[in-house]
Amino acid sequence: MKNFVGETVTIAFGNEKRQSAHIVLTSNQIELASLNATETNYVNKELAKDAKQLCIVLNQYHRQVFILKNGFDKGAKRNEIYRVLGDKAAQNLGDNKEIDFVGFDDTEALYCVAEGLVLGSYAYTKHGADSKQRTPLNLLMDAHCSEDIAFSNLVILCDAVFIARDLVNTPYNFLNATDFANKAREIGKDSGFLVEVFEKERIKALKMGGLLAVNQGSVQPPTFTVMEYKPDNAHNEQPYILVGKGVTFDTGGLNIKTPWTHMREMKCDMAGAAAVLLAISAVAKAKLPIYVVALVPATDNQTDSTAVLPGDVITISNGKTVEVLNTDAEGRLILADALSYAHRYNPQLVIDLATLTGSAAMAIGAQASVCMGNASADYKSRLHAAAVRTHERLVEFPLFEDYQKNIKSDVADMANISTGAPEAGAIIAGIFLENFAGPSWMHLDIAGTAFNSSKDAYRPKNGTGIGVRLLFDFLQQEIKEHQ
Ligand code: BES
Ligand code: MN
Ligand code: ZN
Repeated sequence: MKNFVGETVTIAFGNEKRQSAHIVLTSNQIELASLNATETNYVNKELAKDAKQLCIVLNQYHRQVFILKNGFDKGAKRNEIYRVLGDKAAQNLGDNKEIDFVGFDDTEALYCVAEGLVLGSYAYTKHGADSKQRTPLNLLMDAHCSEDIAFSNLVILCDAVFIARDLVNTPYNFLNATDFANKAREIGKDSGFLVEVFEKERIKALKMGGLLAVNQGSVQPPTFTVMEYKPDNAHNEQPYILVGKGVTFDTGGLNIKTPWTHMREMKCDMAGAAAVLLAISAVAKAKLPIYVVALVPATDNQTDSTAVLPGDVITISNGKTVEVLNTDAEGRLILADALSYAHRYNPQLVIDLATLTGSAAMAIGAQASVCMGNASADYKSRLHAAAVRTHERLVEFPLFEDYQKNIKSDVADMANISTGAPEAGAIIAGIFLENFAGPSWMHLDIAGTAFNSSKDAYRPKNGTGIGVRLLFDFLQQEIKEHQ
């Protein structure tokens, strides 16, 4: 891995109003912060105090110096505190102000601070603006960092998270299913992975009845985007498949949403699609030796007179029939086709990401995503470990067989919502998907984590880019499982 120590790295930077900031990450010796005698005295006195305080901040005219105290137990909890600290620093970045971090040979802490700083500096100021036009942020690493930390991946990842956020924040009238597919083509070319887009005719030929039914009420055609990254040195023969829900806008269809069911936020309903696109892009850019496929079924969910009606029976591409009792439970219909399509790859593992149910958000809020699936305990524990490391946390819900009876239909193989009690909505959606998934599958419901109503440290208001860092971290660790 390339180490950027001593080099200046340019990275997309969030706020157009800010000038490029000069950030010096140093480690080991406080002398490197070039403080005067009074300042050094003050810092040494503060350092000697046995306070819980994580760092000492010196505010000078031209710069801010963050001196990180050591002695804190390493681990995920501490790393998150450093990311939040990085975000605080980002909020203080003025024009040309320099921020120095001095970190006592703790490169992991420095990495997390830098991560929080960059991620926290994001802002979506203008629709259609893309991060390439933003003022660059210069990260200048000092030559005294002793470990070889992969700062190159930091740049790749933050860039990917920014673009995922941009896509989620882009209004529907600038990002329909065709626009999304074109964006995937552009990103694929730039990052080095293959992109094939199925247009409506091909989708019909593949008999993707779920995607076609959801698209029926729209004047815009659907797309199904297949992305493949298969490097010669891949450690795995069977791919990891990422599936993302790409509902570019969800009006609810004829079961139309009411204001209190968040209709105005529903441009975010393709956050799963954005996450898998930018995750495969980051994996390709970092040239990880792993075979990954990403699948995105995309359409808007609209109310035209041609729209699918409550009670209609449709056939998914695997031949199973579904009674559409509620047109607002559309995500699972398009995912059913994508999960069915995944079988042809004989995948190692399939992970889908979807803003699938308000119920997931109601259950655990924005603090974690809900997950469930039939993957092995080993996969689950490794996915969980990645979730803890990246602080893109997961809480597992059960998929007890008994729930299947909740979606029994009189006229089709199953209904798309519960025909009985309304409880356990997130699980019912998962139970529905299980009918189309293979034997090694995880479902991540990101309805509560994809779109923030207010800023939460380095997770901005609106699109958060959730899933990108989690998937990248997980896939990077999976390489070791195929030696
Ligand atoms: N896209 C929504 C879920 C959603 C809600 C995402 C809030 C983000 C924030 C999904 O398509 C939906 O409408 N789900 C319904 C399912 C119900 C009809 C069974 C829901 O959660 O109300
Ligand atoms: Mn819906
Ligand atoms: Zn939806």
